[in-house]
Amino acid sequence: MQDLEKLNTEVIIIGSGIAGLYTALKTAEHSDVTLICKEGLLESNTRYAQGGIAAVITEKDSIALHRQDTLIAGAGLCSHEAVDVLVNEGPEGVYELIRYGTVFDKEGNQLALTKEGAHSERRILHANGDSTGAEIVRALSREVRENPRIHILEHHFAIDLVTKDGECRGVIVLTPLGKRLYIDAKATVLAAGGAGQLYRYTTNPEVATGDGIAMAYRAGALIKDVEFIQFHPTSLCYPGAPRFLISEAVRGEGAVLRNINGERFMEKYHPGLELAPRDIVARAIVSEMEQNESTFVYLDITHESEDLIKHRFPTIYQVCLQYGLNMVTDWIPVAPAAHYMMGGVKTGLWGETSVARLFACGEVSCTGVHGANRLASNSLSEAIVFGKRIAQRIKQLTPIKQPIESLSFSIMREKEMKEEETLVERLKLQKLMVRQVGLKRDKMRLEKALKELEKDSKHFRKLLKGHKEFEYLNMLTCAMLSAKAALLREESRGGHYRDDFPERDDEIWRKHILHSIEEGIK
Ligand code: SIN
Repeated sequence: MQDLEKLNTEVIIIGSGIAGLYTALKTAEHSDVTLICKEGLLESNTRYAQGGIAAVITEKDSIALHRQDTLIAGAGLCSHEAVDVLVNEGPEGVYELIRYGTVFDKEGNQLALTKEGAHSERRILHANGDSTGAEIVRALSREVRENPRIHILEHHFAIDLVTKDGECRGVIVLTPLGKRLYIDAKATVLAAGGAGQLYRYTTNPEVATGDGIAMAYRAGALIKDVEFIQFHPTSLCYPGAPRFLISEAVRGEGAVLRNINGERFMEKYHPGLELAPRDIVARAIVSEMEQNESTFVYLDITHESEDLIKHRFPTIYQVCLQYGLNMVTDWIPVAPAAHYMMGGVKTGLWGETSVARLFACGEVSCTGVHGANRLASNSLSEAIVFGKRIAQRIKQLTPIKQPIESLSFSIMREKEMKEEETLVERLKLQKLMVRQVGLKRDKMRLEKALKELEKDSKHFRKLLKGHKEFEYLNMLTCAMLSAKAALLREESRGGHYRDDFPERDDEIWRKHILHSIEEGIK
């Protein structure tokens, strides 16, 4: 047994995407914050968000329409109260981002707005054409760095939450020097992002390994809706190129999808054509790929002017060009890739989880806003709306009466695993998830996946030491939670499609699946 060095703070925030940065700024208005990130401050899923942030900011649009679009996309599983919070408080959040220095694109004097799939109005704000997330991170991270009440711990990996008497009492972190540290706080906010890395093909960066969900689960928090995974229909699919996101905004500006024979096909699948809900577009693409025995379809925006393409999509244009693809003249090969997890740590309307003093914000959370399928560009808005609410709720929290004085830990490992071995295991898991828990699932594939995941999990638990090993353990946990829920849900809805139960079944399944470490799945 070994005693841990202890650090005291008032509020811990784990993660530095929009949810972590924004919640930190709001919380620092009344408390001292320690912000923990496993890489540098700037690295997160937010940084790669292209399309934008959805909010009603014009007379032409209406809150009621945004609400309706969100509920329709969510396929019967949204929390109506959470959606109300999102659509009503989103616009103020956007103005607050502007006050923090975010520069959104304008047309003349007005904020420029684009449209994305399943939105009935143009209500997506964007920045630098197609790098909205990077601009938000630039502005918020500058504010965070300048804020004397925010203490930043970069390259610190949060291993586990500490709980006592049903309350969260902080977190154990692994420092860059490999030491373990106990950070004690009156409130802990998980803003650790999603789990796109569960899949071999994903638009998410390396850091998106589901750490927050796995940690919360181990700490006894309820995990909700994790069978619903959103696959983005259009990621670049070209030899040697990463699965780079080709924003839905490209379709919003008129791009069409064509199969490898050059035929436009979306009219066969949905009246909304290329802007139908994401799950429908993604599955339509897979059907076309299967029918034509191809690994991609084409995205064609060549009918638009060179000026529009270069001005609206400078980043996408440049990345494609790097691989010899010119959007102005070439059709771009694309295929679906894992993009967003609708489920996560169950929260109430103030970001509170089922464990006292533990909050969750952003993709790691399941506020109920997204239901079974997230409406494009609602995630950045969700993070700021609920981040502000969490800060307000934390302000009302009383201090802890009896802080934990010291913590010990025992070293569990029996033998160390080399980093390369962990990476091989990780790749194995990612391939298994694509094949067995991917865009189309069925009982046989899911059962097979679970069997393999359980075997790997038992073997691996003994080998923990470094950051990459903890990450892999978290990925295993999330993969199992997602596969178990997918097996239980015998219907198809939103981001969960079962080949053996292809219909939506509102009579039985208009309900949520919850995981609890104590009570199992129900
Ligand atoms: C995109 O630009 O297509 C992604 C936007 C989102 O996922 O909300």
